[in-house]
Amino acid sequence: MPYEDMPDIRLRPCEARDIAAVQAIYADAVLTGLASFELEAPTVEEMQARWTKITAAGFPFLVAERGGELSGFAYAAAYRERPAYAGTVEDSVYVDRRHRGAGIGRMLLAEVIAHCETGGFRQMIAVIGDSGNAGSVALHQRLGFDHVGTFRSVGWKHGRWLDTVLMQRSLGAGDTAPPQI
Ligand SMILES: CC(C)(COP(=O)(O)OP(=O)(O)OC[C@H]1O[C@@H](n2cnc3c(N)ncnc32)[C@H](O)[C@@H]1OP(=O)(O)O)[C@@H](O)C(=O)NCCC(=O)NCCS
Repeated sequence: MPYEDMPDIRLRPCEARDIAAVQAIYADAVLTGLASFELEAPTVEEMQARWTKITAAGFPFLVAERGGELSGFAYAAAYRERPAYAGTVEDSVYVDRRHRGAGIGRMLLAEVIAHCETGGFRQMIAVIGDSGNAGSVALHQRLGFDHVGTFRSVGWKHGRWLDTVLMQRSLGAGDTAPPQI
């Protein structure tokens, strides 16, 4: 569905007043799902610190509102800290379970990709927990990510081994030009 057919969904930069709702969405995913390899949900204060660090570094951190309710968030952050990785980002996207399947994840991630392309980054990596995460794999495929590989049984959560699925997408000029950060 094209975005213009979803007029009740609005994207905007995350603000300090949104952090409690962002934390609630993420905490549910941490405690009940397999996408995040965290075992304990971060506090609102910790989530605020992460948001501050990400945005201070110039990365996009967006939220989606649906019918006025905060229904999802997505951001990009450094893939790795060592300087040669500076042109590569890793994405994160989480949608409130009550709003999944409505196109919100696609809208959020597409906008994060657009911001990162404008920002001069050249590659985006998705580290998806677990192999059974059909929604995240489908979302990333839909937005042009290729499957790169799967690390088998690298996480232990909820009493079972978890894989990570690695997916990758070029941004802008990709590897035909240096990063412009
Ligand atoms: C993964 C997630 C962000 C997707 O967001 P969403 O708003 O539900 O996804 P969308 O409605 O935008 O769907 C995007 C595409 O994926 C497909 N899709 C979504 N959920 C799916 C599922 N469970 N199984 C198969 N395909 C699915 C949709 O059909 C759509 O494809 P289309 O545009 O070709 O129709 C959301 O399910 C979520 O928050 N999951 C838990 C946390 C998580 O896994 N985050 C990703 C961390 S890497």
